[in-house]
Amino acid sequence: MPIVNRIAEYSDTLTAWRRHLHSHPELGYEEVETAAFVAARLREMGVDEVHEGIGRTGVVGVVRGGTGGRRIGLRADMDALPIEEATGLPHASTRPGKMHACGHDGHTTMLLGAAKYLAETRNFDGTVCLVFQPAEEGRAGARAMLEDGLLERFPVEEIYGLHNWPSLPVGEFAMCTGPAMAASDEFRITIKGRGCHAAMPNLGLDPVFVGAQIVIGLQGIVSRETDPVDNAVLSVTRFHAGQAFNVVPETAELVGTVRTFEPGTRDRIERRLGEVAQGIARSFGLDADIAYRRGYPPTVNHAREAVMGADAAALVVGEERVDRTPRPVMGAEDFAFMLEAVPGSYIWMGSAAGADSPPLHSAHYDFNDEALPLGVSYWAKLVESRLPRAG
Ligand code: NI
Repeated sequence: MPIVNRIAEYSDTLTAWRRHLHSHPELGYEEVETAAFVAARLREMGVDEVHEGIGRTGVVGVVRGGTGGRRIGLRADMDALPIEEATGLPHASTRPGKMHACGHDGHTTMLLGAAKYLAETRNFDGTVCLVFQPAEEGRAGARAMLEDGLLERFPVEEIYGLHNWPSLPVGEFAMCTGPAMAASDEFRITIKGRGCHAAMPNLGLDPVFVGAQIVIGLQGIVSRETDPVDNAVLSVTRFHAGQAFNVVPETAELVGTVRTFEPGTRDRIERRLGEVAQGIARSFGLDADIAYRRGYPPTVNHAREAVMGADAAALVVGEERVDRTPRPVMGAEDFAFMLEAVPGSYIWMGSAAGADSPPLHSAHYDFNDEALPLGVSYWAKLVESRLPRAG
């Protein structure tokens, strides 16, 4: 497999960096030590500029080659998850309740590895902005960097992201064209009834009974009203009501998530969720309060940049190991905000460690260090193919 030779030579360094980050996880917007580590490594490597504190804890490194004209961005995420690590590994988290369970330690390391290679070789003509973002896990660190002027300060023409994928073997890549990951929204329905003795339900208005109808009714929005070839998921994940076995409570609360790809589908489900919940509640004489919060938009790969990314992956692992038509997934990713602002693409890199490799966000997950040189080689080939030197 043609991993770039120079990158293979420092794979031990990459592993050491990755394990250091793994044992020192920090949650979203708390990536102070991680950001300092990233900035220190970038300075050691001699990248041209290092900027800290963008979007609170984000870091941007700039490397120029040749005339430095065209600009592209490469992005990694730095945050960990609030999970108690259960791997028992020598480099396991030293911080109770915090863990790199999504491989962002690996993503940060691979972008550092790319910075090292690019600063050393400068075998490209243009400007590469290395974007290390905070708070990918639910707290929109990408949006925070954009709101803090990321694109005004570093006006890239294209931007690329990468995520490790433990269900895909090491040495394989997968790139969707168009939607790759879903929009992720959150809803909360408060059903307001009237409490009473459970033996005399006719004297009250039972929000548990009505809540149960709403849970079932909401599923009709997906199964009966959404084009089966479009994709949507609505999950009620929490149903809280009552304290006692013999009391009909005053209120019940339903909480859940909606995942969609199409903007029109997202708008319609948001509207219909309110109509169905309120309609069912009213039909039994109760009232419902609906709060709907939009989270990350769908992650949509731009057609041309998806091809560019897949082509760069093929230069590393061969065309037969690049899936150009994988199925999208209903998870969400805040690189979506960057792809709304700039053309680009987001690739999945195989990182399975054997047949029963623990999934992302598992307490048993660990980033597979074998994949590090492949990810760095991907970044190197992408830059050299997108910003070729003249002649
Ligand atoms: Ni992740």
